[in-house]
Amino acid sequence: MGKRKITRRKAIAAASAGALGTIVNWSFTPFTTGSKEQDKLAILGGPKVREGRWPSWPVWDEAAEKNITDMLRTGRWWRGSGEHVAEFETKYAELMGVKRCLATASGTTALITSLKALGVDAGDEVIVSPFTFIASYNVIFMNKSLPVFADTDPETFLIDPSKIESRVTERTTAIIPVHIYGLPVDMDSVNAVARKHNLKVIEDACQAWLAEYKGEKVGSLGDAGCFSFQNSKNLPAGEGGAIISNNESFMDKCHSTHNCGRPFGSVPRTSSYPIAGTNFRMQQIQALILLSQMNRIQKDADIRLANARYLDEQLSKIPGIIPYKLANGATRSAYHLYPFRYLKEEFNDTPKERFIRALGAEGIPCSSGYGPQNKDGLIEEQLNSKGYKRLFPESRLKQWREENILPGNDRLCSEAVIFSQSILLGSRSDMEDIVKAITKIYQNRDSLKA
Ligand SMILES: Cc1ncc(COP(=O)(O)O)c(C=O)c1O
Repeated sequence: MGKRKITRRKAIAAASAGALGTIVNWSFTPFTTGSKEQDKLAILGGPKVREGRWPSWPVWDEAAEKNITDMLRTGRWWRGSGEHVAEFETKYAELMGVKRCLATASGTTALITSLKALGVDAGDEVIVSPFTFIASYNVIFMNKSLPVFADTDPETFLIDPSKIESRVTERTTAIIPVHIYGLPVDMDSVNAVARKHNLKVIEDACQAWLAEYKGEKVGSLGDAGCFSFQNSKNLPAGEGGAIISNNESFMDKCHSTHNCGRPFGSVPRTSSYPIAGTNFRMQQIQALILLSQMNRIQKDADIRLANARYLDEQLSKIPGIIPYKLANGATRSAYHLYPFRYLKEEFNDTPKERFIRALGAEGIPCSSGYGPQNKDGLIEEQLNSKGYKRLFPESRLKQWREENILPGNDRLCSEAVIFSQSILLGSRSDMEDIVKAITKIYQNRDSLKA
C-alpha cells in the first residue's frame, strides 16, 4: 500500500466527526513482511510485531539501599525526629523553582490540605476537570464541597478554559485544573477567570513533575500545586505527595494542617492546636526513596520527551490515530502517560476495546483512558447524602444534575488510548515497534472486527 492521500474535507470529518478542526496529514510507511501469513494480525493467530520486554517500573538506585538501612537502624522513622523529609522539601522546591514545598503522605492528602488551607469550605463549589483520576473529585467531596465539571477539550485532553466561567456561581471558591498525563493546562486562561471572580486555583499536578507552561514548572502557576509520588508515578516512593507555593503564610497553614493543627511559622501560637488539622505527614523512608529517585528524574524526562516527539510525528501519519495536542502556552509535557485518540471510523468501525486488545496481542501494552466518571456512582451517593441535602438547596442539586452534560469529555472517554510512562523509557527501536504494530492493525482493519 502506498501513501494514502485524503481530501482536507475527509480529514476534518474523520478527525472531528463534527466538533474538532484538526487538519491531518496522513501518509505512513506501510507495514509489510512480504508474506501474507507473517502479516496476519497477532490477535488472529499471526506472529507478534514485538516479542521483547518493556522497561519495568519502578527502578531504584542501589546507593539508596544503604541510606534506607542506616535510617532504619536509627529508629528515627518519622519526620519529627529526622532530617530527610525536610531535605526532600528543600530539594523539590528548588527543582520546581518555588520558595516552599511541603511533603505529604500522598497526592490526595496534598489536595485536601490545600483546600483547607485556602479556606475552601463545606457548601462551597469547586470547578474541576472531569477527565482525571478519581482523587480530583474525591477530595472535593471529602471537603463537603460540590465538584462542578467544566467540559474537556478532546484535542488537548484537558479542561477547556472557555467552559469555566459559565460554571461559576456565588458559591464557587476555587478551580482545580488537572494537568492530566503531564499535559499542561493553559494556566493564563484559568488564572484570568480566577482573578475576575476572586477564586483560588489549586493545580492538580499529581501527574506533571517537570512539565512546563511558558517555561515555568507546572504546579507553580496557581495558589497551590499538588503532586503525587505513588508507585506508578514518574517520581515514585510507594506513596507520597507534595504541595508547592511561593506564598509563605499559605504554606505555614498547610504545614499546621498536615500536622494535627499544631502552630507553625505564621500560624499563631495562641494554643497547642490553634487550627483544625490531621496527620498527613510524610515518613522518612518515603523521603529517602524520593531523594534517590530525584537523581534520575530529569534524565528520564528527557528520554520520554524525545520518544514522545517521535511518536507524535509517526503516529499522526496513521489514519484515525490522533496524538494529544499541547494546550496554548504549554512548553513541555511530563508524559506520565502518552495519549492519543483512536477514531474507529478509520478502522472499519472496530470498537476501541478490540483495537486495544489487538495492539496488546502485537506486544504493545496500552489501555483506555478515564471513563465518564462525572456519571459514576460516587456522585449520586454524595448528592443524596443527608449532609449534601443540608448543605445545598434542592434547586441547586437539580440544576447541577441538569448541567452534568459533557459532550467533549464523553467523546474523549470513548476515543482515548494511552501508553504508560515506562514504555516511553524504551529505545528508538521500541518506538518503531509501536508505530509498526499500529500500522499493521490499520492495514488489516478489515480482518480485525470480531
Ligand atoms: C490526577 C491525580 N490527582 C490526584 C491523585 C492522587 O494522588 P495519590 O494517589 O498519591 O493520593 C492522582 C494519583 O494517581 C492523580 O493521578
